[in-house]
Amino acid sequence: MSPLEDIVTEIIARHDRGSEPARGALLPILHDLQAELGYISEDTIRLLASALNLTRAEVHGVVSFYHDFRTEKHALPVIKLCRAEACKARGVEALVDGAEQAAAGRATIETVYCLGLCSVGPNAMVGDQLHARLDASKLEQMIGAAA
Ligand code: FES
Repeated sequence: MSPLEDIVTEIIARHDRGSEPARGALLPILHDLQAELGYISEDTIRLLASALNLTRAEVHGVVSFYHDFRTEKHALPVIKLCRAEACKARGVEALVDGAEQAAAGRATIETVYCLGLCSVGPNAMVGDQLHARLDASKLEQMIGAAA
């Protein structure tokens, strides 16, 4: 078994609920695969489709529908900065220019719309880590740590 097959098998097993087929957990499986691998490659789609008894088109359709999934590896770490209403009201727009300057050449700033922590914004996410109550200094530190 290849290392990729090992990872896919392990992550599918993580979502196996016994009587409930793992194919019902396609979205969380894809999220875990992306967290582990950084992106969802064509090889990953092929292995996942085969293991879950789905067509490659079915898996590819889900991957391409949700813009959160990447099909190519990012060269730089990705920082997801929430710019939805609650984070806007808590001042995220004042942080955007500084974040982009701090990230230049070291990280990619991606805009997202709500990370589910609206009351403690402005918020950002790096990998599966959420960062709340950001100010310019915390955001810069976070970018430095991610790069
Ligand atoms: S609006 Fe930013 S986390 Fe919900």
